[in-house]
Amino acid sequence: MSEERFDLTVRNGRVVSEGQVLLADVGVRQGVIAAIGEGLVPGVRDVDARGRWVLPGGVDSHCHIEQFSGMGVMGADDFYSATVSAAFGGTTTVIPFAAQHRGMKIPAVLEDYARRAREKAVIDYGFHLILTNPDEDTLSRDLPQAIHDGITSIKVYMTYDRMKLDDHQLLDVLAMAQREGALVMVHAENHDMIKWLAQKLVDSGHTRPKYHAIAHDPLAETEATNRAIALGRLIDTPILIVHVAGGETVDLIRHARTLGAKVFAESCPQYLFLTAEDLDRTGLEGAKFCCSPPPRDGASQEAIWRGFQDGTLVTYSSDHAPYRFDETGKLPKGEKTTFKDMANGVPGLELRVPLLFSEGFLKGRLDIHQFVELTATNHARMYGIFPRKGVIRVGSDADLAIWDEDRETVVRHEMLHDQVGYTPYEGRLVRGWPTVVVSRGRIVVEDGMLHAARGTGKYLARGTPDVSRNAPAPSERMHERPQAGFIQSLLRRDAKAA
Ligand code: URP
Ligand code: ZN
Ligand code: ZN
Repeated sequence: MSEERFDLTVRNGRVVSEGQVLLADVGVRQGVIAAIGEGLVPGVRDVDARGRWVLPGGVDSHCHIEQFSGMGVMGADDFYSATVSAAFGGTTTVIPFAAQHRGMKIPAVLEDYARRAREKAVIDYGFHLILTNPDEDTLSRDLPQAIHDGITSIKVYMTYDRMKLDDHQLLDVLAMAQREGALVMVHAENHDMIKWLAQKLVDSGHTRPKYHAIAHDPLAETEATNRAIALGRLIDTPILIVHVAGGETVDLIRHARTLGAKVFAESCPQYLFLTAEDLDRTGLEGAKFCCSPPPRDGASQEAIWRGFQDGTLVTYSSDHAPYRFDETGKLPKGEKTTFKDMANGVPGLELRVPLLFSEGFLKGRLDIHQFVELTATNHARMYGIFPRKGVIRVGSDADLAIWDEDRETVVRHEMLHDQVGYTPYEGRLVRGWPTVVVSRGRIVVEDGMLHAARGTGKYLARGTPDVSRNAPAPSERMHERPQAGFIQSLLRRDAKAA
């Protein structure tokens, strides 16, 4: 009796599955990986992956889609263009932000983002919540409800006038996260250092984009990161520092982890492949490279690579922030725009994984397993969607990217699928590209063509983040805090009262 056919069989690829490279087929039924092995029965659709890598589809856990920024600017990509763009770059899951701005109620914010994504996304998605108003109702009612509904991570800002929380508020949020089992993501920059420097620069006529990197001095990042780590340690709650840019910050996080701090960290393509010199291009061109924190220097790039190699940095995300080079984004005041006026952020959803494949894996800085962890698996674990996402395993969603490592591409914005109008990586040679991308068993991209309809991506109600696999290894430097138990007893008392 012949075995029932698969819906899709991916044949003869180099399949990267849970720390192994297998020369194998992957059989898919009803959107789920049903078998991994040699000589599987045919699929209704057979894809020959001979000579190519079969990797988990990427998970991008930091991207801004159809979102008002901290400065109140709407990005150029909606849930359709952003998810199409992600899919073409080998990403099959995104976790963008639902952003609360002051005065907004969280249930309404979440409903608004959910509706817009439901109508447009072509790949699966979850949400983090950006929190700007941690008042009593929010902490005791709205956030627990949101976490229960699968929004199990919250981003907080230590800077931006319209977003920043003070340390007291941050502790309230961390305590709530501990109680409810959520992960707090921290944008760590010292607000007053930046504001003070920016004012001095503008007052003295230094307004070009390159001064953005001076205003956002690396010390502003290290100071705030150090403070965030201390707040997390005070009440023994994990935090994840997003978009780490500076070498000193990487060293600080590594050191804190040796002391036993539950600090996790992310970095992004802009900190590996751009530097502050890019902000000094002719005229206002440098605005295309302005993000916060800004790209630093070669030494910081090397430190970020080391951070990825030794596990200090656990996720590699795009921080896609799609602002056009016109009055809707980067140049609100035209030629008169100063670095203080321009929207912060750079696009990167589509090129995130190809850049790391080319420069990380193919150039020998990362092995294939590190590459997969940094682009997919660690995101899934840290944000509560593992093993459904981020891994090639029987029972997991069939989210796959088939990579041709010989394909060479010179990056041009015209070939990308976002709405930004430029890419900071214009003209770069990238080796390797995902030629076939599969989301829940559906071929969504093949040979440069999109095969997914708008609205076919599914919402992921995420579970409790699992930080254990990326936690610091025990070391003799681990520092016991004798008063920690007493602080925990205070928090337990509050939890009972809640
Ligand atoms: O400059 C950046 N990173 N813009 C996006 C918003 C954020 O803070 O992540
Ligand atoms: Zn941020
Ligand atoms: Zn961001």
